[in-house]
Amino acid sequence: MKASGVGLGAVILPSILSSQAADAASVSTALWIPPKLSGKVFNLKLSKGSKQIVPGALTNTYSYNGTGFWGPTLFMNKGDNVALNVTNNLTESTTTHWHGMHLPAEMDGGPMQEIKVGKTWSPKFKVMNNAATYWYHPHMHKTTQKQLALGAGGFIFVQDSIEAALALPRTYGVDDIPLALGSRTLSSSNQIGTTTIYGDTMLTNGVANATVSLPAQYVRLRILNMESERVYNLGISDGRSFHVIATDGGLVNKPIAVKRLLMSPGERYEILVDLSNNKVGSALSLKAFNKGLAFGYGGGEPAQAGQFGSLLNNNDFDVLKINVVKPTSKGIATLPTVLTKNAFPTQTQVTNSRTVAITDKGPGTPFTFDGKSYDMGTINQHVKLGATEAWTITNDEIFGHSFHIHDVQFKIVSRSSGAIPVYEQGWKDTFSIQRNEKVTFIAKFDDYSSSEWPFMYHCHMANHEDGGLMGQFLVEA
Ligand code: C2O
Ligand code: CU
Repeated sequence: MKASGVGLGAVILPSILSSQAADAASVSTALWIPPKLSGKVFNLKLSKGSKQIVPGALTNTYSYNGTGFWGPTLFMNKGDNVALNVTNNLTESTTTHWHGMHLPAEMDGGPMQEIKVGKTWSPKFKVMNNAATYWYHPHMHKTTQKQLALGAGGFIFVQDSIEAALALPRTYGVDDIPLALGSRTLSSSNQIGTTTIYGDTMLTNGVANATVSLPAQYVRLRILNMESERVYNLGISDGRSFHVIATDGGLVNKPIAVKRLLMSPGERYEILVDLSNNKVGSALSLKAFNKGLAFGYGGGEPAQAGQFGSLLNNNDFDVLKINVVKPTSKGIATLPTVLTKNAFPTQTQVTNSRTVAITDKGPGTPFTFDGKSYDMGTINQHVKLGATEAWTITNDEIFGHSFHIHDVQFKIVSRSSGAIPVYEQGWKDTFSIQRNEKVTFIAKFDDYSSSEWPFMYHCHMANHEDGGLMGQFLVEA
């Protein structure tokens, strides 16, 4: 593909030069920045394609709008009424879900909103979410893992007046960088393993050995874990701290300093990294410090091969190499002290509580919620419109999971394993739940009801979700 050929500024890694000299010219390690789509009408076409991911044969992929892997970034403004046209040019059914967005269930793109081959689905909704990083991806029951593994997905950046008033990096692709993290396994003919749990090749925005040039100032990284199962225990290679400024569903009140950030599949965080003291020409990396992850965290397994193995498992590895270049003329040099003022729902406002258990039917059987595998004809929970609910998710299983619920953004109020990590203290729609853990969150189920169209809750580990670890709830007037 032309778009993935070596561009100006692409960096060829020495390892590729030495071992694959003949093919190196055709593989770019420059971080790919998805094209930007903005306005109120968004046209997306999902089709087969291919991409030069590693030397040798092209890799067959799925992507939106012919990008080769992944899809354009949709810039939406809070308050806008947007219309989307999603055309399925694949040879199989799909759906497209707007992950994290608060909208009518009928527009949500869950398993019920199937887009048959050759058809276009045209949802419309008002953008109600806070400024933050959301994403879209297929949600077809039993083929979510395959379609996501092949590359189908994209970012949604919601913008609002609160975020716009802050002095934050927001020059897309320059100091404001989307990063979709997902390892993939490539066969000897460079084809993606669509049922593989953990990949051997780290891909960042679909690029192996991804390298980016960033200016010596505050830079904003908008990070998404788009894996099947792997978690990322992220940090900077030199051990410096950085600041979390946004969680899944909005800005946090104040920048939160951390050295490590654990992200499970489906989660997003926006961070600010201060490169102002880095010499132009110096290098550092964003890294997964996954060595020593306990069993139960996806990718903590020690095996390098086999069903649950990967070369990246229980290892530290780079997810993005950063070359520092000279600052831009209007670069951000200081950290804002206050970002927003969130009003989270509290325990005293709770009108109903429920518990959802992650279960199975014995060793080796698929995970389920409350003993029931996902069934499109079954409504598992009924929620009253306007209710403020506390949901407690319990996991007595042998492995950790990544719990996600549609429709709402929530506040995590307790983790039985101990303190809630500082970086989780914002609006969330997805979280990691470990073995023998109970996690409680509070959410308000506002605005949208239907007696017919349910929302989903599920594990965001795509293979668990396809295996039946998914349920449906109606919000009823
Ligand atoms: Cu990221 Cu049910 O979805
Ligand atoms: Cu799971």
